[in-house]
Order: sequence, then C-alpha cells, then structure tokens
Amino acid sequence: MIPEEKVREVAERLSIVEVVSDYLPLRRAGSNFSGLCPFHAEKTPSFNVNPAREIFHCFGCGAGGNVFSFIMKIEGLSFPEAVKLLARKSGIEIEERQLTPAERKSQDEHVQFLKINDLTTAYYRSVLLNSAEGEPARKYLANRSVEPDISEAYRLGFAPDRRDGLVKHLKNNGADLDSAVKLGIVRKSDSGWYDLFRNRLIFPIRDGRGQVIAFAGRVLDATLPKYINSPESPLYHKSSVLFGLDMALPSIRTGNAIIIVEGYFDHLALYRAGVQNVVATCGTALTGTHAGLIKRHAERVYTLFDSDNAGKKATIRSMELFLEQRIPAYVITLPAGDDPDSFLTAHTADDFAALRAKARPAFEYFVHSLLAETPPDSVDSKVRVIDDIVPRFRKIADLVERDLYEKEICRLLGITVHAFRKRMGGGVLSSRDSTQNQGNSLPAYDNVQDTLLALLLNYPEARSEIERIGLETVLTGDHLEIARLLMDSDHGLDLSRLSELIENPEQKTLFSRIMVSDGYLADIEWRTVFDQCTRSHEKKQLSSIKDIASRLAVLDANSEEYGLLLKQADSLRTRKSKL
Ligand code: UTP
Ligand code: MN
Repeated sequence: MIPEEKVREVAERLSIVEVVSDYLPLRRAGSNFSGLCPFHAEKTPSFNVNPAREIFHCFGCGAGGNVFSFIMKIEGLSFPEAVKLLARKSGIEIEERQLTPAERKSQDEHVQFLKINDLTTAYYRSVLLNSAEGEPARKYLANRSVEPDISEAYRLGFAPDRRDGLVKHLKNNGADLDSAVKLGIVRKSDSGWYDLFRNRLIFPIRDGRGQVIAFAGRVLDATLPKYINSPESPLYHKSSVLFGLDMALPSIRTGNAIIIVEGYFDHLALYRAGVQNVVATCGTALTGTHAGLIKRHAERVYTLFDSDNAGKKATIRSMELFLEQRIPAYVITLPAGDDPDSFLTAHTADDFAALRAKARPAFEYFVHSLLAETPPDSVDSKVRVIDDIVPRFRKIADLVERDLYEKEICRLLGITVHAFRKRMGGGVLSSRDSTQNQGNSLPAYDNVQDTLLALLLNYPEARSEIERIGLETVLTGDHLEIARLLMDSDHGLDLSRLSELIENPEQKTLFSRIMVSDGYLADIEWRTVFDQCTRSHEKKQLSSIKDIASRLAVLDANSEEYGLLLKQADSLRTRKSKL
C-alpha cells in the first residue's frame, strides 16, 4: 500500500507533458499539446494533453485520465505499479506501509504459487524438448506444423506418462507440495503424491502480464477427455481468464479490436498466421467478466467460433453479453465444417483477412440465423421470431442502432413498426428495462450537458447555483454522475485527482474529453452561458415529452410499456416545472 500523500507528491513533482513526451512527440496546440495517439492507430493527431489540468484525452479512441492512468495504460501496469514507476522517475522514495501478518502470509503464498507454476512450466518444457519421453509429443507437434518458435512463444510442454514426474521435480527444487495441491497440479492420496497431468501436451495458461496461472493438457490421440484443465485455484478463475491475452495485447493496442476463439489450437493457428489480437476462453463459455475484460482492452470484438450448432449458440450467447456491455460485436463466419485451425491450414492469412472484412454485426447475424431456422411465412412463425428477438433487442443500448434494427427486422418479417412495438409492449418489462428506456428516450443533447458540466468544473459559483436548482433538474446520465462526484468530493479543485476517482470507463472518457476541450469557457460570463444551457435543456425536455406523446398514441393503453412511458412523461413535466 502506498500512502496517499506519496501519490500526490509524485503527481506534483512531474509534468504530464514531460512524462507523455517520453513515449510520443507532442506539439503545442493552443492551451493543449497534441500528438498521435499511442493507444490506437491514427494518421492525424487526436491525442491531447492539457498541462494546466494534468489531464490527457484522445478524441479518437476515448482514452483519458491523469498521468497515472497514462502510465497504467501504456505500460500495462496496476495503479500502485504506475505510481512506483513514476516515483523512480522523479526521485521520490516510496516506503510501503508494513503489511499485516495475514497480508504477509498471503503474499508469501502467492509468490510460492507463482514459483511452483514456473518450475512446472520449465519441467514440462524440458521433457518436451530434451527427453526421450518427449518424442511422441515432438512428433505430434511436427505433424500439426507447430515450429519451435511457436512452441517457445506458448512455452508448450509435455507431461510424461509417469505417476509422479512433476512431484519429484518440485520436491527436488524445494517447492512446497501442499501449495502445489492447492493449485491442483499435484494430488495427494494414501499412497503418496501424484501428478494431475499424464501423457498430455501442456499449454501453460498465462494472465495478462504473462504469469503462468494454470495449465491445460491435451491428449496426443483420440482418447477422451481431449483436454484436462487445472481446477479453479487461488491463482486461476477460469471465468475471468482469457488465454493468450498477454501475447495479444500489443496487437490489440494498435488495432483496438479483439478476436475471440474457443480453442487453444485455434488461438495457435491464428497467432502462427500473424493474426495476433486473439484470445480464447479456457474450456468454458464466455462470461460477463470476460466481456468486461474485453471492453477494458478493445473497442470492438469479433467472435470466431466453429460453424457447427454449438458454435452458433455460443455466438448468440456472447452477443447478448456484448450488447449488455455495449461493446460493438461482429461475427466472423467460417465455411461449413471448418474451425480456425483447419481453415488456416488450407488457406492463407489474406483469405482470413477477407473473411474478417466480411464479418457481420452480431445482432444482424443473430436475426438472420433465426430467420433461416424459422422462415416467417405465417403469423404464428412471425410471432415466434419476434418473441425470440425482443429480449435481445431490448439490450441494444445505442438508440440509433435500435432504430436501424427495428426497421430491418420489420422489413425482413414484413410487418409494420407499429406491430413490432405492440408485440414488444406485450412482453413483460423488467424494472431494468424501464430505466434503460428512460435513459434512451431522452434525446442526445450532449452539447448542453457538456457545457453545463464544464461550467461546474471551471466555476465554483456555478456549483452553488446548480445546487440551488438541483443537479438532477438539468443533468442526466454520465454527466450527472460526474457532477455528483465533483460536488461530493473535497477534491473539487484538484481535477486531475478527481479523474482517478471516476471508475466507469465511459465517465472517465467523458471527463477527460471535457477537461481538454473547455478552453472556450476560460474568459466568459459564466452566468449567461449557464442560463442559456438551462433554457435549452428545458426546450429539449419539452420536445421529448412530445416524442413520448406520439409514441403513446400508437400503443395499447393496457400495455406495460404504455404505463412506463406515461410515468416518464410525468416525471419530465415535474422536472421541467422546477426550472
Ligand atoms: P476443441 O475440441 O475444438 O479443441 O475444443 P481445440 O483446442 O480446437 O483442439 P484441436 O484443434 O481439436 O486439437 C475447444 C476448447 O474447448 C475446451 C478447450 O479449451 C479447447 O481448446 N475443451 C475441449 C475442454 O476444456 N475439454 C475438452 O475435453 C474439450
Ligand atoms: Mn477446435
């Protein structure tokens, strides 16, 4: 743990412009400095650093924050690691708080776990490379055209067909076997310790920083099960691990996209073909945690699953997760019968690039595969299709996208938008849907919201004024959340520090964007602008009441959606009257 005063001392000692300049050339542009963004590929600079604010923001990819966020992102470090790196740079010594005995014990155990995994990786690797027992695995890899450089990149290994080869190796190297049991790679019976993996090709599973946290073992023939994986352990939680992330990160960073596959060998096939922004789940379906992890690293995700039924199901399930997390998702479709490995064995990397270029938005893929299964040739089948679509359709967060898909669905089904909405209204809306609807039905008046928020950040007087009329009367969504944080924190003036407190990635982006682009507010009469904003907000509220009214006109008055919209209109009217 690094004491807070130390963190502030480091922040004060450094200039963000200097720190960033170590990574990319910056040029002055008005009150900011700008350059080519290191976090996505671009030809004209949209990366901005505001030295007065100690904040950076990229208008291209939305990355933003203070000097610590910059180092975390570019070096792939945690917050404390970033602070330490910058402390070294600025010659500040950091003494960490003494660990409690419990913390010390768990840290020691963690070190022991990592050491065991390193010993294990090295052992299996040396069996594969050097021992006579490794011969069948060497043949197997040669058959699948896995060359030494690829084998090395994955640190592949082979577990010999012996009861306790690993046990002995660990013992000889002074490792604690009870810890190895906790990792699941060694087991204990009445007759002694024995290995989990036997006669299997070994894929070490690494975390995003490249540390080995678990193993997967594949048979060399058709024996079942094909794979055995390390069980869940203090180091390994399969629902939050993406295999190959450490190898993929540099390429993800330049392209801002991730391709997700299902198998270790699929990963290997793509990586070998030079497609390196790839990750795989580890013998489990994609989870919300995976989706969150993907969102942290990329702007877009492509799924590349087998073309069989199981693969289709997995594609649609993962689409739902990506819709929930608002990650634009696309589906790469392989020719029937192919998996990524077989495709790349028979085709070139360019052929794969062509497939990828033809990737379809996941929702479109979903609707089309549904229609292929159930042709909408009767009222009955149309209703069935709509009922399959509706719960997923509700998860589309983007209003424009929703609108486009609504039209497309209606066109494909040959029904009116009115009918589609009517059927939607007939379904049971959850309370979550209703808040989502509320957020979505408000028109985007980001300019006014941006300006209001910028005023609050710039003018303390504006803060007391907005407190008088109530934040909620004029601000919504992310703008409101940030304003709340500003009002609640005593960091009102240290805006760079405030950026650390914002956890939600969209809010982080919004905040840094405003921080580097509010120069136009520097010498103004804040009151005039403030009044303009609140008036314009009022007008927009009014027009959204009109919008709701026109939607109400076409809905069944008994439907739940009707009731929800009515409530929304009411609350808008009350808010408006407060102004
Ligand atoms: P696949 O059977 O497609 O494996 O299962 P693969 O890695 O592509 O291997 P090859 O190309 O047939 O040799 C896809 C993934 O499902 C998990 C593994 O993560 C595997 O990579 N799996 C599969 C298991 O966990 N256990 C199994 O028994 C089978
Ligand atoms: Mn496969």
